[in-house]
Amino acid sequence: MFFTSLKSLPPDSILGLMSAFRQDLNPDKVDLSVGIYRESSGETPVMRAVRRAEAEIINEQVTKAYIPPIGVEGFRAGVAELVFGDETNALQPRTACVQTVGGCGALRVAGGLYKRAVDKGWAYVSAPTWGNHFGLLGGAGLNITEYPYYDSEHHALRIDQMLNYLRRAPPRSLIVLQVGCHNPSGADPSDTEWDAILDVIEARSLLPLFDLAYQGMGTSIDADAAPVRKAAKRLSALMVAVSTSKNFGLYRERTGALLAITETPSQVEMLESQMQDIARGMYSMSPAHGALIVDRILDRPELRADWRDELEAMRLRIIDLRRQLQAALRTLRPDLDSGWLVEQRGMFSLLGIDRADIDRLRSEHHIYMVGDSRINIAGLNDHNLDMVASAIAPLMK
Ligand code: LMR
Repeated sequence: MFFTSLKSLPPDSILGLMSAFRQDLNPDKVDLSVGIYRESSGETPVMRAVRRAEAEIINEQVTKAYIPPIGVEGFRAGVAELVFGDETNALQPRTACVQTVGGCGALRVAGGLYKRAVDKGWAYVSAPTWGNHFGLLGGAGLNITEYPYYDSEHHALRIDQMLNYLRRAPPRSLIVLQVGCHNPSGADPSDTEWDAILDVIEARSLLPLFDLAYQGMGTSIDADAAPVRKAAKRLSALMVAVSTSKNFGLYRERTGALLAITETPSQVEMLESQMQDIARGMYSMSPAHGALIVDRILDRPELRADWRDELEAMRLRIIDLRRQLQAALRTLRPDLDSGWLVEQRGMFSLLGIDRADIDRLRSEHHIYMVGDSRINIAGLNDHNLDMVASAIAPLMK
């Protein structure tokens, strides 16, 4: 008997909802749970540029031999350029980069790297944060604490409390900062608030790990990466976990990268060897397919332009859905301040609904959302928006 001491675990708070939704036979069910973009039909499209790049790659490929463990060269360069923009060339001598298994792989490798560099260090994540930060960083052996970030009762950032908390963080702590489209709150710091956060990071000698999973879905490709670019200009070291799941729609291809700006150019080779070694010990190397697609799209002007256009259309559709939901709520509940819905960015917002009501929304209305009342705005459409608004309006505070 080898496994008798183990117990079944409850379903994952986000992914568990996928199977519950699938099993629900009600034709009017609404999935506002997992963070995947959906178009008005409810489908998650393969982006046009992805489809074209993919067809070419499949036609041309002559081997399935391993790619280099560090990743596809053009993908690594392309991702660095998307993140650092005009600063890319200046930062290049201090940029280490390894392709990873999605943004999750990047976070896990970053955690492992930090653990090797600062053995007893702490990782700080926002309260609330994306649930899997705990699994990924905890899995790397890090102690995790939460800094105040979002007040879901008042739908506002707790910026002063956040800064005060970080001011007390021991030097060399790892500070996880989601950049653009915060998951689960949709609330991002303003430019001046980012400056204040970076002031504390710099003054306290903290190491930021930027989690960049929604670049281009908030304000624009450049604006969403602006805090990282600012940080790269003023800090001696930082890490960025990049996901192309959402902005290239490559979810299942598990395509991401870990970037690090090193203190000196001489650290780049060392850091890349450490990153590859950590990945090798977990999954050896990343899958090639998604990275080859991103490489081709970023490298070919017409594919790149088409990708940007489609990404922008997705972004604008989410903003429009936010407006429509807020308009419906305003009509149903004129007493309620719902302005935050249109100020927040990206796919997620926290409705601030109680757990028991969330369960009832599921059993009575077949509306699925995460247990902290996070909804995926992109799951709304012309067929379900009014029904969702009517169901949630009486429950909102
Ligand atoms: C989400 O937050 O819903 C997505 O990032 C999917 C996931 O892996 O949790």
